[in-house]
Amino acid sequence: EKGGFDWFMRKEIYEQPRAVADTLLGRYDSDGALTLDEIRISEAELRQIDKIVVIACGTSFYAGLVAKYAIEHWTRIPCEVELASEFRYRDPIVGPTTLVVTISQSGETADTLMAIRHAREQKARVLAICNTNGSTIPRESDAVIYTHAGPEVGVASTKGFLTQLVACYLLGLYLAQVRGTKYGDEIATIMHELEQMPALIQQVLDGIQPVLDLASEFADEPSVLFLGRHVGYPVALEGALKLKELAYIHAEGFAAGELKHGPIALIDHQLPVFVVVPPQGRDMLHDKVISNIQEVRARGAKTVILVEEGDEEVTPYADVLIRLPRVSTLLQPLVATVPLQVFACELATRKGHDVDQPRNLAKSVTVE
Ligand code: M6R
Repeated sequence: EKGGFDWFMRKEIYEQPRAVADTLLGRYDSDGALTLDEIRISEAELRQIDKIVVIACGTSFYAGLVAKYAIEHWTRIPCEVELASEFRYRDPIVGPTTLVVTISQSGETADTLMAIRHAREQKARVLAICNTNGSTIPRESDAVIYTHAGPEVGVASTKGFLTQLVACYLLGLYLAQVRGTKYGDEIATIMHELEQMPALIQQVLDGIQPVLDLASEFADEPSVLFLGRHVGYPVALEGALKLKELAYIHAEGFAAGELKHGPIALIDHQLPVFVVVPPQGRDMLHDKVISNIQEVRARGAKTVILVEEGDEEVTPYADVLIRLPRVSTLLQPLVATVPLQVFACELATRKGHDVDQPRNLAKSVTVE
């Protein structure tokens, strides 16, 4: 049932090209219109929305952090992202013109479910992004976008996460279409790029050997840091979470711009620091991350740099280079997360841990 793989997690990592393709399937018709048929909120209501609040836990929360960048950029609707366990005990400002978006692979996470009930009591409209047909969270929501990852057995979310990202992009584009904040040809360009993603994710998997080698080199490290900016920041958080839950290694993800506000004090001789470099583009982001890399390298860190093919600016400051396909900034998490998943899976395997059932964790957290 593991299809020749040692772990469900590894199998699920390799299923990601198909999972992403399946989640995109049938959403975009030949006239260039995006349809999300499980949305049972009318277009008129969607035009009234003046605020989006994304609520989730764990890896799904990180998908929400990525969603914020895309949704605000494409729709100009203010978007907040909050941990369900915090939201449910707060007095949040939501109402009938708030769209609450919950993200849950299992559809059974207790904190997320309670957060939905809390939002609905205040008349917010709730849209669930979920991988499990007929689970509790979509049943209690006004609308659903199903991710078609197929069953995810490994406790660590992998294909669940990538398909959640796809669903978030689709939601952002759909809202942009309904509200007219993006023109049809702009949406078409992004959709076209999304449709290339399964092949690009496959390309990352085909070239994964250096990441496997790295895992054996780092098996005895007591601590690893992950840095990123913009959508690379949630990718850094996800890389750190995977390492904690599978390899039981202390790992932290930081926004690279925060280094000087404290975390740089942690940098020590030979400390491994993974950095996600944004694509080379028109904005300053890329160069800012390069200077962050120089800063940590100058203090002795061992730098593992995830960077797109053809970008040589960072090469002098990299101890290890992990090459990513060229994609636009907002979509980069779809390719940048994959090496970090493989790294954590491989490191945990080398340490002899049960990758599918890490200690102290459950697949669905149905209690508080
Ligand atoms: O089923 P959900 O998406 O609601 O689960 C949320 C988290 O419990 C989950 O993502 C958890 O963080 C994973 N073990 C991460 O790999």
